[in-house]
Amino acid sequence: MSLFRPDVDRIAGYVPGEQPQESGWTKLNTNENPYPPSPRVAEAVQRAAGGRLNIYPDPLASQFRQAVADLYQVEPDWILPANGSDENLTILFRTFVDPGELASSPYPSYVLYETLADIQGAGYERLALNADWSWNWGLAEPVAAKSKLVLVPNPNSPSGNIWTDDELMRLLPDQGVLVVDEAYGDFRDASHGVEILQSEIGRRIVVTRTLSKSYSLAGIRCGFAIAHPDLIAGMRKVKDSYNCNTLTLAAGLAAVQDQEWMQHNTERIRSTRSRLTSELRTCGFDVVDSQANFVWATRDDGRHEEIYSQLKQRRILVRYMSFSDAVGDDEVDGLRISIGTDEEIDIFLRALSEIL
Ligand SMILES: Cc1ncc(COP(=O)(O)O)c(C=O)c1O
Repeated sequence: MSLFRPDVDRIAGYVPGEQPQESGWTKLNTNENPYPPSPRVAEAVQRAAGGRLNIYPDPLASQFRQAVADLYQVEPDWILPANGSDENLTILFRTFVDPGELASSPYPSYVLYETLADIQGAGYERLALNADWSWNWGLAEPVAAKSKLVLVPNPNSPSGNIWTDDELMRLLPDQGVLVVDEAYGDFRDASHGVEILQSEIGRRIVVTRTLSKSYSLAGIRCGFAIAHPDLIAGMRKVKDSYNCNTLTLAAGLAAVQDQEWMQHNTERIRSTRSRLTSELRTCGFDVVDSQANFVWATRDDGRHEEIYSQLKQRRILVRYMSFSDAVGDDEVDGLRISIGTDEEIDIFLRALSEIL
């Protein structure tokens, strides 16, 4: 007899990318920012750590919420802070999807969505993409229409491509919520606000953002959702009372208040992204034009897994990913390479040319 809920028994669980804890690795596998966070973050965390840690944090994270609201020019009740975007994704499932109801997301995309649906006891279907990462509307649209929750990363992972707001609107469910997961939104070439939320149908759309990537705070676990206050009010009922701790809130506030630091780093990453893309193409890879802090690279000779292993032997980590039944019955596999510093990318390219 199993003690577990059948839904938990059934699933394998989400497997995060490798996180070696010792130094000496060139780590290009989990889309972290290679640059440190704003120096204001360490000062703020030190101040907070010397303060009242015996007291619970502000359950509404008011100061952080206000700073984010100012940034996006909305009122604070449009913002729900969370312990990373992953927590907001969990809250979204618990708020909007009953067991047996349907959730959907593009495939290939962020694998966690399907795991969260499984844990919730929800149904899950893929929104079909073509081989060039465009939508297979004939298959995708009817599935989105009947879903309770549709989740779309924009830019997408692992491909790094973006979809237009008009395309996203076509995926709005008939009677459900569309989540636009903008974990990589700050790496887009043109800045992009939350205009998508301002219309009438915007009342059924939630945008999620994270400080893990563009603000270099993956270790702090901080993110936020932006949506109409009616949606945020429902999600707030579901969240843990004190879901963001005092140190996280201090770090998050300092980070969003230093836009110059974030913009400077994302600009450097965009420039390294262009260089890496053209170098990989010269070495015989097909590379999707990326608007994120990683690129998706594939080769006709299919040597992806072997190249991943050989890089790993040299203490360079990239992400080998394989998606079965991706387009039609085809398996899609390839390498997702996070954008490191220029020095890290040089180390990677030197090793790659030895391997090839
Ligand atoms: C598409 C997407 N959404 C969300 C996340 C998780 O973000 P966070 O670190 O804020 O939980 C990731 C992390 O890799 C991601 O790729």
